[in-house]
Amino acid sequence: MSNGNSADAVSAPLETAALISRFEENFGRLPDGVWQAPGRVNLIGEHTDYNEGFVLPFAIDKTARVAVAARPDSTIRLLSTYGGQGLTTADLTSLDSAAARGWTKYPLGVIWALQQRGIEVPGIDLLLDSDVPLGAGLSSSHAIECAVISALNELTGAGLQAEEMVLATQQAENDFVGAPTGIMDQSASLRGAKGHAVFLDCRTQEVQLVPFEAEPAGLVMLVIDTKVQHSHADGGYASRRASCELGAEVLGVPALRDVTVDDLEEASGLLDEVTFRRVRHVVMENDRVLQTVELLARQGPGAIGALLDASHVSMRDDFEISCPELDLAVDASRRNGAIGARMTGGGFGGAAIALTPVAAEAEVRAAVVNAFADAGYGKPDIFTVTPAAGAHRIS
Ligand code: GLA
Repeated sequence: MSNGNSADAVSAPLETAALISRFEENFGRLPDGVWQAPGRVNLIGEHTDYNEGFVLPFAIDKTARVAVAARPDSTIRLLSTYGGQGLTTADLTSLDSAAARGWTKYPLGVIWALQQRGIEVPGIDLLLDSDVPLGAGLSSSHAIECAVISALNELTGAGLQAEEMVLATQQAENDFVGAPTGIMDQSASLRGAKGHAVFLDCRTQEVQLVPFEAEPAGLVMLVIDTKVQHSHADGGYASRRASCELGAEVLGVPALRDVTVDDLEEASGLLDEVTFRRVRHVVMENDRVLQTVELLARQGPGAIGALLDASHVSMRDDFEISCPELDLAVDASRRNGAIGARMTGGGFGGAAIALTPVAAEAEVRAAVVNAFADAGYGKPDIFTVTPAAGAHRIS
């Protein structure tokens, strides 16, 4: 999620020891610990989470890390290694979302959500470092929230299970940050595992870890960050969510999760044209997630390309959350050897993923960069990701 602060540039991650000494320099003592949580890429299952459907994201090898020390008073002091924003001070007894600036909304939102649960959070000193690109649709905000909640869960001795931490961070996003998002991102960040995608049933929070490794199949997962900034606190995400709720209401089901592919024909007669297309995306996307899980188990990553492509077309044409830069990233990578590609995350900007044979990687990278230059778009950032561990303490 973009915080609209261009000074918040992300650079290479600090080593843990360097983060600890930076903490000591700024706060005059050592932290109680350092916690880390990853960003995520969604393999497939977009805008299905708040429809109580299925998603298949994975935690990536780009992380937010927080060094934290509890304080004996109610003061909160927040500092990041990002440029631009100095020390932010707040007080536990008067958390104010309207006054919170930039990235500080995320730790403050988590503290607020824990307080809503009756958990007594101490004052803290916190230093953040992150190499999850901001506003790229890779859940930089959830990485921060999940690192912070992991730290506070331990420091308060609250002993929350992952499912409860997922709901607390969702409440922070929805009611403090003001983004009406679902539970996918924090579930991937908290529950991800190396070499696996997280197959999540968003109705029950049941998780199945699905082996997903591109490399043994001769593939790489490329992320193409279009650099088109987006924010889910803006109107597009909320209006899609409202269409889905309207669709479920008209069809008389608790959530679109309960509509099957076979129900779609009848649904087309009951819904207005736009709502029908929104519903069709969600219903077909849920089905594609289930098919992807099955294909991965039977045939491995080389078999899922067509499903990634179909997911993108559905987001472009039915859900209408893509943008010209994302479409170009997808088309250029497909035309130059990727076996499947789609935008990933909430849409309206951010990143695309392209599952690409190792032998075609250089060609795909060059083709995407050239296509962006020809179209007069800014240079995209292209990098590989692999499924990595979920949130944990690192020091
Ligand atoms: C954002 C939200 C998620 C999910 C995706 C779309 O990443 O945070 O909850 O809705 O968009 O799949």
